[in-house]
Amino acid sequence: MSQVGLFYGTDTGNTERVADMIKDKIGSDIVEVHDIATASADDFAKYDKIILGQPTWYYGELQSSWDDFWDEFKEVDFTDKTFACFGLGDQADYAEYFLDAMGMMHDIALENGGIPAGYWSTDGYEFDESKAVTEDGEFFVGLAIDEDQQPEMTAERVDQWVDQVKEEMSL
Ligand SMILES: Cc1cc2nc3c(=O)[nH]c(=O)nc-3n(C[C@H](O)[C@H](O)[C@H](O)COP(=O)(O)O)c2cc1C
Repeated sequence: MSQVGLFYGTDTGNTERVADMIKDKIGSDIVEVHDIATASADDFAKYDKIILGQPTWYYGELQSSWDDFWDEFKEVDFTDKTFACFGLGDQADYAEYFLDAMGMMHDIALENGGIPAGYWSTDGYEFDESKAVTEDGEFFVGLAIDEDQQPEMTAERVDQWVDQVKEEMSL
């Protein structure tokens, strides 16, 4: 069985592309990718290492298929599971809501007993507010990807983050 379950949702395809980059970089024999639109809570039970990916939509809202899954997600038991989040957003046009959905997703996995990995420096981003930052503002609670304003940085960010997560998850 694969060691890592990666669960993502997307409206326009960007998050799916980043999910595939992460899978390819970690190894397609190690990562099993699930579109949250067709996933169930049972799928989470199969893994003790989980990656969660979600873009933010419509001024700080969840992506639509994550939104549909949300009540079930709140019941997923993350005890003894290590999890890492990645989020997509637009730091200029939605500067007051940058990556909010990643923050909400992280908080549920944490509340449900998960061990967080993959925190990411806020250096190199310009935004006003985000629900996806640590209290001191130094870190995002997961990888921050901005395909609208900084697409040229995505590949390098994914590479660096995957190296970090592999170490933190002992992959
Ligand atoms: C109408 C609209 C609303 C958006 N709202 C937000 C937002 O509130 N916060 C944010 O960080 N990004 C926001 N974005 C940017 C998207 O998250 C970004 O384009 C992302 O790459 C889309 O990912 P997807 O293709 O996987 O759906 C918005 C984009 C659009 C077009």
